[in-house]
Amino acid sequence: MTIFEVRERYLNFFKKHGHKIIPSSSLIPENDPTTLFTSSGMQPLVPYLLGEEHPKGVRLANSQMCFRAEDVDEIGDNRHTTFFEMLGNWSLGDYFKKEQLPWVFEFLTNKDEGLGLDPARIYVTVFSGDKESDMPTDTESVDIWKKLFLEKGIDAKLVTLDTEKHGGEVGMQGGRIFAYGAKKNWWSRSGMPNNMPEGEPGGPDSEIFYDFGTEHNNSFGEKCHPNCDCGRFIEIGNSVFMQYVKRNGTFSELPKKNVDFGGGLERLTAVSNNEPDIFLNNVFRDALHILEYNSGKKYSEQSEAVIRSFRIILDHMRATSFMIAGGITPSNTEQGYVLRRLIRRSIREADKLGIKEAVLAEVSAVYGKSYAKEYPFVSESENKIREEITAEEAKFRKTLTQGLREFEKYAKHSTPDIDAEVVFRLYTSYGFPIELTEEMARERGMSIDMEAVHAKMKEHRDKSRAGAEQKFKGGLADGGKETTMLHTCTHLMLAGLRKYLGKDVHQAGSNITAERLRFDFTHHEKVSREILDNVEKYVNEAIEEDAPVILEQIPKESAKDEGVEGSFWEKYPDVVNVYTIKSNDGVVYSKELCGGPHVENTKMIHDTGKHFKITKESSSSAGVRRIKAVLIKD
Ligand code: SER
Repeated sequence: MTIFEVRERYLNFFKKHGHKIIPSSSLIPENDPTTLFTSSGMQPLVPYLLGEEHPKGVRLANSQMCFRAEDVDEIGDNRHTTFFEMLGNWSLGDYFKKEQLPWVFEFLTNKDEGLGLDPARIYVTVFSGDKESDMPTDTESVDIWKKLFLEKGIDAKLVTLDTEKHGGEVGMQGGRIFAYGAKKNWWSRSGMPNNMPEGEPGGPDSEIFYDFGTEHNNSFGEKCHPNCDCGRFIEIGNSVFMQYVKRNGTFSELPKKNVDFGGGLERLTAVSNNEPDIFLNNVFRDALHILEYNSGKKYSEQSEAVIRSFRIILDHMRATSFMIAGGITPSNTEQGYVLRRLIRRSIREADKLGIKEAVLAEVSAVYGKSYAKEYPFVSESENKIREEITAEEAKFRKTLTQGLREFEKYAKHSTPDIDAEVVFRLYTSYGFPIELTEEMARERGMSIDMEAVHAKMKEHRDKSRAGAEQKFKGGLADGGKETTMLHTCTHLMLAGLRKYLGKDVHQAGSNITAERLRFDFTHHEKVSREILDNVEKYVNEAIEEDAPVILEQIPKESAKDEGVEGSFWEKYPDVVNVYTIKSNDGVVYSKELCGGPHVENTKMIHDTGKHFKITKESSSSAGVRRIKAVLIKD
């Protein structure tokens, strides 16, 4: 079965049971500044799980794009990916355990409408209770599961293991239903009940595992049990009975009990094919061929270490495609940094595979095609994805070669440890990422005193921050008249750039003195003089219009909806300052989020008899251009 068939069957199944199918939310959370990525299906639905009414009703199902940055280091085994789709069905205060568990079991085992899995390969877990938070054992789920298995002719014995450690000691004991404690069978975005912050919903859950029947590997524990990581069992779904919320330090029942089911689409596809390697499905196939062709290595014939390199690239490039298509560009902060890390890591793994030419853009491009039907926005951004990856690859290949050479020098004649100073120098002189040095050291069994490295980094950051603080807010050197005029011109110029280069242009940095403005913005190629002339004209026209600069304070969400231009929205308060430059007959030249200061009217600039001129356009860093501009008299 392909990923698409599994997704379709699941959604159809739940549609038949009265669920409305809702689209996936964006990978970058829209109204949630607390987290960089959407990492579970329930995340965009939190307000509804807490009681808000959903416009589509009380039974919902979807396939949600997710990204788990915390799993980056685990990529390389046969079951983890950073980006994945999570199939989900929700009851918003409607049905509960009695309906949920039979439905999901039916979906998994039914040959015609579901996945047709052999029930004998299915094992389940339930919540054994938690003394600390005074939460009871979920006996109701145990009873439901017993009945469901019995209908398939399986006498399902309950075994209580409480912890993974206990599981590793005593093993399966002929069990089918396994009860674990809060660490394994309680779900909230912040984990166990006592870790939940105020206002967070959570509840006991019941996970489903598929048994591949492989030999237990006792480096993972003496004995095997469903939550053992040896590879025999894989978790394929989780029904969370979200019925509690933390208020005033204690747990209260939510007014309505919810169900939150999530199942990894890639994993469900893998088990449908009884194939333990989730990278062997249809969406990875073409990308894998490109890597095999360019490396001259066949995936199925390689050692674990080589297969790991293949998997890292396959995973990271898929995530990269979705991220760039979702509007992220490689940078040194937040989502952009995670993206940069994925690309750089892939470059290194490609290098390890013996691929010396740039191939990642080509690899990533095939994902747009694989997902053309469900997520057309990926293929629509194909050019942008290629450009960003090509730019990053061109730049980082050089860094990698230099960094590797330096690293080898130290590694050859040094002790089993790599000096913190060396790690730091590789970073500051060659831009060689610290986590990469760490990874290389680990591969050779060498160690690094990371505490010492972090101390050095902090010292470095504090120094540069002290420099930055001396600058005026908003990149202004001072609040003088010349500087303020140039600041207003900066807004007009950004609007002009967006008019002529497109809406992917955003501010990436700004520094304004009385003499000139310097402005960094996201764009991946040189801007022609012709376009710069048009932008200049746009700014000068607004200056000659004697247009008022209007300051309004509006709620952040409405500002976003109105398409106000701004970067770093998450850093602004709920009510934001928006500056609009608008001619007297209503032409809006610019509308931008900003802390000021600005001239009150472009007449102030007009009256000086000066006009706006772009003096220089150059590259600033990968995917970022830099403009310098002035106000001058002819
Ligand atoms: N929220 C649960 C999970 O992410 C089930 O969807 O596992």
